[in-house]
Amino acid sequence: MTNRLAIDGGAPVRRHPFPRWPVHSEREERNLLDVLRSGQWGALAGHMVQAFERRFAEFQGARYGVCVPNGTLALQMALKALGVGPGDEVITTPYTFIATANAALALGARVVFADIDPASLNIDPAQVERTVTPRTRAIVPVHLGGQPADMDRLLAISRQHNLGLLEDACQAWGAEWRGRRVGAIGDLGAFSFQSSKNISAGEGGIVVTNDERLAELCWSLHNVGRVRGGAWYYHEIVGWNLRMTEWQAAVLLAQLERLPEQAARREANACYLADALGQVPGIGPLPANPLVTQHARHLFIMRYDPAAYGGRSRDEFLRALQAEGIEPVSPGYVPLHRTPAIRRALAALCQEERSLCATAADGLPELPACPHAEEAAERAVWLFQYALLGERSDMDSIAEAIAKIQRAWG
Ligand SMILES: Cc1ncc(COP(=O)(O)O)c(C=O)c1O
Repeated sequence: MTNRLAIDGGAPVRRHPFPRWPVHSEREERNLLDVLRSGQWGALAGHMVQAFERRFAEFQGARYGVCVPNGTLALQMALKALGVGPGDEVITTPYTFIATANAALALGARVVFADIDPASLNIDPAQVERTVTPRTRAIVPVHLGGQPADMDRLLAISRQHNLGLLEDACQAWGAEWRGRRVGAIGDLGAFSFQSSKNISAGEGGIVVTNDERLAELCWSLHNVGRVRGGAWYYHEIVGWNLRMTEWQAAVLLAQLERLPEQAARREANACYLADALGQVPGIGPLPANPLVTQHARHLFIMRYDPAAYGGRSRDEFLRALQAEGIEPVSPGYVPLHRTPAIRRALAALCQEERSLCATAADGLPELPACPHAEEAAERAVWLFQYALLGERSDMDSIAEAIAKIQRAWG
């Protein structure tokens, strides 16, 4: 192997692809054929969605589950169940997928960002506390990459101020905070089964809770305001049609069976890779938190220090890494308080409310700085979950490619 970087014309460290995602077998095929032949393709007549709701809720240690078409709608429905609407504020992290914020905005609420903890990249409870106002209705922590946020402190803040606590667990199937699976530690939890996720049906979502009233409200909201056991054309509230199809649940039931074995493999490979990176200057995984008793390993997030790489930017580093054949990597999120769509939506709210909004040079609202989220956006290197389903030799190739770049630039 030469030391010349692949980006400069040298031989890449790796030429073969990482494991493909998603994975399926005859389990998915059998379930899908069962649905097809049953003629019951919708959740109200079939049994797959109900079975998945029961099994997944139980898997997360929750009493109830309501399946919906995707994680975005799971968040939106859960916020609606918490009473969020126009005039309310919802506090969340700026370092998340835009859907977390969109769910609040879609209900006419204002989204307010609390900066992240630089160690975990999850929302910082101290920042949440400073952000609470009399208009705050809910807090939405995100278990980023599968690592639970600090649920003890967030729960205490939500109870002290009488706020709803919705866990965005869209990346956190099976994750545990101090021995408890996430999702129903707060009032409600939302999960996604979109294509990139650790269990997937292409699209899909679920809301879980231990609160019977919220569970019934979610069931009604997702089924056009019907009540369980009520007449077909009797509607108690204005809801939506958010019913998952039997096709999605057929695939998810099979995916859930496979999850524990895949989770163990991801965990073992993540620990091995973290160790291997210990030898490489200027890069490393986020520190382990002993209160996180199970990480869902959706993302293996590393922090890149340009000083150890001759001052080259994280994006140059990623280009070099991909050229070495390490393709399942990403620079990660642009923080939401810097995202035009969110800033435009907040400008429109200011106009509606006839309130004043500080404006930046680009004409859009200037949102308060979140320096840790901004730093994460410049320094984070994400490795996707399916890379962790490989062999140890796959982890060795990742560490070797990074070490090769460091030797060349450092
Ligand atoms: C943190 C987070 N929240 C929300 C979502 C939205 O889920 P979906 O894509 O299923 O709508 C996703 C995933 O895409 C996510 O990663």
